[in-house]
Amino acid sequence: MNGFTPTDQADQASASAQLSIRNVTKVFPGKTGLVNKLTGKTSRDFVAIEDISLEIEPNTFVTIIGPSGCGKSTLLGMIAGLMPVTMGQILLNGQPIVGPGPDRGMVFQNYALMPWMTVEENIRFAIETVTPKMSPKRCDRIIKEHIQLVGLSGAERKHPHELSGGMRQRVGIARALAINPQILLMDEPFGALDALTRGFLQDEIERIWEQQRKTVIMITHSIEEALLLSDRIVMMTRGPAARVDEILEVPFPRPRNRETIDQHPAYHDLKAEMESHLFRETRAVEAARIG
Ligand SMILES: Nc1ncnc2c1ncn2[C@@H]1O[C@H](COP(=O)(O)OP(=O)(O)OP(=O)(O)O)[C@@H](O)[C@H]1O
Ligand SMILES: [Mg+2]
Repeated sequence: MNGFTPTDQADQASASAQLSIRNVTKVFPGKTGLVNKLTGKTSRDFVAIEDISLEIEPNTFVTIIGPSGCGKSTLLGMIAGLMPVTMGQILLNGQPIVGPGPDRGMVFQNYALMPWMTVEENIRFAIETVTPKMSPKRCDRIIKEHIQLVGLSGAERKHPHELSGGMRQRVGIARALAINPQILLMDEPFGALDALTRGFLQDEIERIWEQQRKTVIMITHSIEEALLLSDRIVMMTRGPAARVDEILEVPFPRPRNRETIDQHPAYHDLKAEMESHLFRETRAVEAARIG
């Protein structure tokens, strides 16, 4: 067994953790009052995730994997400060997260770019929102650096509709990194891309991570992607009341190479463990749906 349980990790809750997720539960309240009268249906509170604890150290690449609908985006949304926790606490450098902040950059699955702005303007908008007093010269330099970093030089003046999906996601990554966040949050960033573009962007993320070593928390449905990129893989159970089942340590040396990574002695065991986890949880979701 390569992993250790979330309880072990919570016990080790150390001062060195950058992000501490402590006994977090998220309940979406049922609709009440007028809505019930209109639809004739009663709806109950929904416990999406229950009592999740995780300690994330600086400069770690963490991926979250789990069956569809288990609460991965909900957890990331709470870390981003886009929605409140119902119970428990999320601390960033010891301070509770109360809303979005420049210390966290988010990359969305659907890109979420401003369609009327060019590549350059999308990135500028993010920087100016976070640091309104930055000199235009410095801002220009940061934009240029990040456009280069993600390989978009030449596309500065293009609008999102003129870009491919892979290029749009590069803008999303450049925009998130340009505000120089402590933590990069990515919700299935490559989910909508074809396999080739996806592989290419995974390699880019690996390269950028080697340069910057930021803390990254990324949601993915791809076992291979998680094994290629992560230091730790958090495996969530099915919902409702989803928990963290196990956390796997990924021991492969860096820089990693997709061609040779499966030659590492631990690769196939880790992969098999993730496959059986996902298979078990997904089968249970199906059984609950049918039964
Ligand atoms: N605003 C909301 N109101 C009520 N229920 C919600 C809300 N947002 C999410 N949920 C429910 O919470 C559960 C977790 O949703 P979430 O989007 O976090 O899952 P996920 O793991 O990201 O799924 P996927 O892999 O399909 O993206 C789902 O059952 C979903 O229906
Ligand atoms: Mg999701």
